Amino acid sequence: MLVFKTLIELKDCLNELRLGKKTIGLIPTMGALHDGHISLINYSKKVCDYTVCSIFINPTQFTNAEDLERYPRTPEKDIELLEKAGCNFLYMPQVEDIYPKNFSRTFDFGYLDSILEGASRPGHFNGVGQVVSILLEGIKPDKAFFGSKDYQQVMVVKSLVKQLSLPIEIVSCPILRESDGLAMSSRNKLLSDKERITASQVPLLMSHANKIIKAKGIKEAKRYVEETVSKIQHMTLDYFEVCNAHTLEKLEFYPATSPAISLIAVFVGKVRLIDNLQL
Ligand code: PAJ
Repeated sequence: MLVFKTLIELKDCLNELRLGKKTIGLIPTMGALHDGHISLINYSKKVCDYTVCSIFINPTQFTNAEDLERYPRTPEKDIELLEKAGCNFLYMPQVEDIYPKNFSRTFDFGYLDSILEGASRPGHFNGVGQVVSILLEGIKPDKAFFGSKDYQQVMVVKSLVKQLSLPIEIVSCPILRESDGLAMSSRNKLLSDKERITASQVPLLMSHANKIIKAKGIKEAKRYVEETVSKIQHMTLDYFEVCNAHTLEKLEFYPATSPAISLIAVFVGKVRLIDNLQL
């Protein structure tokens, strides 16, 4: 695997491949890689000739300085995992390579930015838009792969690609989970042993909530989630919502005419975890 610190060098290398009509897949990440990330590499390898992974802890998408500082960093292990997975190129820039001095770019994601993650973390999706637009415009992949664990992020990125008229296919890939059902996440590395056990309640809560939605309705399910989380030590609920899976419009009644999805964000201690489950 070739490792690049600057976009210019990476672009030169990819331009040559493109001349040979080779297809390129991109997986943007913030590192502290786990099997969920590697599954995206594998999807890309299946359908693209060459796979590029980027590792960049994007400061502009963090809405809290402490969260940015605490974000796990495991660069050597990441490189090892990517080598083993057969990734071809790694782009690992410093902040200055992504953001030139006085950089500013603002996106309007409309309704998508006003709910769930957008409401809880104002400015977060604009930061995601900034870094993803720079990566997509610079690397010009044929396809870019994102995990549906960050369900709203996939929709934001699809909107971004549309707004910028980029000829890039955004591929949404399934959530990889630990054996107890907890969605894999770099942030899981920040959990203490006790908190990790507490976190394993999240997928159970979600599957039970979805059963309640089907049997008794959304209101009952919300009450169940609120009451249950309030009784779990060291867990606080940020949100639990049931939405239209295509538009993320909040639903009050189930069944609805379109497919539905439930989405949750909780704090376990200081660690914020998100998950979602289709109905
Ligand atoms: P990060 O959290 O590192 O995630 C990188 C990609 O891996 C995202 O598309 C995310 O949805 C996917 N992913 C994370 N956990 C997963 C799991 N358990 N199963 C499948 N895919 C999973 O998301 C970001 O970074 C950043 O916001 C980024 C898009 C890189 C922009 O900075």
